[in-house]
Amino acid sequence: MSLGAPDDVEAFRRLVLERSGLILSADKDYLLKSRLEPIARAEGLPDVATMMRQVRIAPVGRMAQRCIDGMATHESFFFRDITPFDQLRDVILPQLWASRSQTKTLRIWSAACSSGQEPYSLAMMLREEQAKFGDWKIEILATDFSQPILERARSALYSDFEVRRGLTDQRQARWLVREGGAFRIAPEIRAMVQFRHHNLLDGMATLRKFDLIFCRNVLIYFEPAKKAQTLEGIATCLVPDGSLILGSAETVVGLTGSFQPTPGLRGVFRTRSQPLSQRAVA
Ligand SMILES: C[S@@+](CC[C@H](N)C(=O)[O-])C[C@H]1O[C@@H](n2cnc3c(N)ncnc32)[C@H](O)[C@@H]1O
Repeated sequence: MSLGAPDDVEAFRRLVLERSGLILSADKDYLLKSRLEPIARAEGLPDVATMMRQVRIAPVGRMAQRCIDGMATHESFFFRDITPFDQLRDVILPQLWASRSQTKTLRIWSAACSSGQEPYSLAMMLREEQAKFGDWKIEILATDFSQPILERARSALYSDFEVRRGLTDQRQARWLVREGGAFRIAPEIRAMVQFRHHNLLDGMATLRKFDLIFCRNVLIYFEPAKKAQTLEGIATCLVPDGSLILGSAETVVGLTGSFQPTPGLRGVFRTRSQPLSQRAVA
């Protein structure tokens, strides 16, 4: 099955790069084909080539958005890579607890949250630290540019496999409610997370400041210029002593001067404007 007329395919590649930051080089044709074929079928179209043509004609239409969404990787799981969560519990949260003891507020952003496991993991951890944060106002904003994945995240319904992938038996018993063959996140955890549509490439002007930003396993898919642009935007959303947590394969090094690694903490970055005396050392 052909992907389509070369001009249509090239226009699609440019559209995906512009709207999602994802580079679809010619060696990714297999990915295009395997991800777009089911969408073409679901749209009732005879083939991907016809869809490519229609997307080129209406690049801001619903079908175009569906195709762009379809190219994204939505892989996620609870307490992914565990180290960031251990560092959060053992180092970052105790520091925030001390430094915010007057205002007792905490604002967290899970950027590119996919199907919700990351923000729900954060909410679970905060509830497990109830003795410290019980009377705090905690906001967790979770955003993604894919509407279908946000719908999934809001539904908070996970399969047995998804639940076992990251949640201990203790957490399963405490934070999940069985529904038939699946599990739904407990209402008190769901109530802590607000989901919202947001494209990281559209800038951060609509967002307020955060104490913590988790932006994990999305920048790896962006071309370097868009990684840098996104990191610069994120820097404007972080309070001066706030922390950015990236994925285990991601860094700010060589991309932006706005952030620097936090000594002793893996994958944790702070903005450079912060005086040395206030910086955390694990
Ligand atoms: C691999 S998942 C990562 C989920 C979670 N952060 C984690 O680490 O488990 C990447 C997510 O980034 C989202 N994404 C890709 N490009 C985006 C963009 N330009 N703006 C916002 N979200 C984007 C995708 O829809 C996908 O859900």
